[in-house]
Amino acid sequence: MGKIIAVVNQKGGVGKTTTTMNLGYALAEAGKKVLLIDFDPQSSLTVCMGYDDTDSLECTIATLMQRVMEDMELPEDYHYIYHHTSDSGVALDFIPCSMELSAVDVSLVNAVCRESILKGILAELKADYDYIIIDCSPSLGMLTINALVAAQAVIIPVTPEYLSAKGLEILLKNILRVKRKINPELEIEGILFTMYKERMRLTQTVEEIVCNTYGQAVPIYKTKIPYSVKVGESTLQSQSIIQYAENNKVSQAYQAFAKEVVEHE
Ligand SMILES: Nc1ncnc2c1ncn2[C@@H]1O[C@H](COP(=O)(O)OP(=O)(O)O)[C@@H](O)[C@H]1O
Ligand SMILES: [Mg+2]
Repeated sequence: MGKIIAVVNQKGGVGKTTTTMNLGYALAEAGKKVLLIDFDPQSSLTVCMGYDDTDSLECTIATLMQRVMEDMELPEDYHYIYHHTSDSGVALDFIPCSMELSAVDVSLVNAVCRESILKGILAELKADYDYIIIDCSPSLGMLTINALVAAQAVIIPVTPEYLSAKGLEILLKNILRVKRKINPELEIEGILFTMYKERMRLTQTVEEIVCNTYGQAVPIYKTKIPYSVKVGESTLQSQSIIQYAENNKVSQAYQAFAKEVVEHE
C-alpha cells in the first residue's frame, strides 16, 4: 500500500516543487513505484515535467476534483495519469494540474465533505504505488487541507532565508489541527533545509533557530539540499537534476534524502 506524502509550506519559493520532482525521481531510481501530483494552480510541476501549455491538458487533477464534487464518475486512469520514462529508463507517473484548480479551490468551500475530496481520489490509486507525493500550493487554504487529509506524512521544505519562524509556527499549528480533527494518521516526517549554503552565516543562524525552536517537536532531516544554479538549468530542460547533472551535489543530496525517506518506514 502506497505512502502518501504532502510537500507543504505556505511560503512560495522554498523548494516544494523541486523537492517533489527530485525526491520522486530519486525514489523511482531506487526502484520504487512513484506517482507525483501537481496540486498547485500555478502548475509549476506540470511545466517542470515538460507540459508548458497546461490549458490544453484534457484531464487534470482539477477535472478529477470537479467530478467528485459533482458526484460524477472518474474517467479511466489512462486519461489523467501520465507515464514518464527518462532516457536512462527511470519510470515515473504523474497527474498534471491547470489553472482550473483555483476555481476548484473556490467551489470547495460549499462542497460536501470538502476536506476529503482528494483523499477519495487517491484511495483508488494507493494500491498501485509505493509513494504518492503531492506538490502543494503556497497557501493554507482548502487545497492544502485536502492534501493534509489525504496524506500520511508531511515534508516541510524550508530555505535559510526563511527567517519568519512565525510562518512555520502557523503551518505546524494547521498540520496539528488537521491531525487532531480529521486525520490522526498524519505525521510530520520532517523539516528539509533547501538551497542551503554551508558557509553563509545567516544559514547557520536560521538552522539554529529552527532546531532550537522545533527540533524537539519536529524531526529535521539530516540531509540538507545545497544551493546550485544547475537546478534552474535542469528545470528548463524538464529534467530532474539527477538526470541533468548526476554528479552535482544537489543530485547526491536528493538521492541521500530519498534514502532517509525510505528508512523512515
Ligand atoms: N537547491 C536549489 N538550488 C538552487 N535553486 C533552487 C534549488 N531548489 C529550488 N531552486 C529554485 O528556486 C525556485 C523556487 O523553487 P520551487 O521548487 O519552485 O519552490 P516552491 O515550489 O516552494 O515555490 C525555483 O526557481 C527553483 O529552480
Ligand atoms: Mg511550487
